[in-house]
Amino acid sequence: MKVVAVVGSIRRGNTLKMVQASCSKFLPEEIDIIDLGKIQIDFCTGCLYCDETQKCNIDDDLSKLMDKIAEADAYIFATPVRWSLLSGEMKTFFDRLNPFATVGTLNGKKCILLTVGQSEKESEDAFSIDLGLKSMEFFCENAGIDVIDEVKAYGCLAENDITNSSYLEKCYKAAEKLRNTLL
Ligand SMILES: Cc1cc2nc3c(=O)[nH]c(=O)nc-3n(C[C@H](O)[C@H](O)[C@H](O)COP(=O)(O)O)c2cc1C
Repeated sequence: MKVVAVVGSIRRGNTLKMVQASCSKFLPEEIDIIDLGKIQIDFCTGCLYCDETQKCNIDDDLSKLMDKIAEADAYIFATPVRWSLLSGEMKTFFDRLNPFATVGTLNGKKCILLTVGQSEKESEDAFSIDLGLKSMEFFCENAGIDVIDEVKAYGCLAENDITNSSYLEKCYKAAEKLRNTLL
């Protein structure tokens, strides 16, 4: 079993902690973490070279990881909510997966989706977290990836706010569910 986990925030904060919690439910050899705060990743230029060739002509850290992503059975995608959307880091990552689109490389793979934002659960801003999650759901639907579970972490603004919340427990549970799906 091979799982690729993607940290969609440069900040060493809540998103990273959610991914670390989820990854702890897998053996080290089962997991590869792509930490978008630690690699050099360029924007998709929209040239569509990949539609013809199934390859991207950008040469950066992500291009070296494309085979690993293609070969994985499942993914953990995690983003902070920004302006009720996924983060720019995560969007750039998803855009760069377009070489897989024409041939359906990601079709039928599994994932869990993790989101975090400052909005409080019972507030009028709570929809913001739903929308942030929704933007990742749309990517998965387009790519043909099955979403096995989702975590929405509310009320987390400062980088350690998630530490003493119940949301890391939800990440453990989502990861266990994903693992069981892959066994
Ligand atoms: C530019 C920007 C926009 C944000 N927009 C939202 C938002 O729309 N809804 C929300 O709940 N939180 C929003 N936040 C708060 C972050 O989602 C929150 O601080 C989160 O914990 C950041 O995760 P991180 O520590 O992994 O970077 C925003 C933060 C930034 C910097």
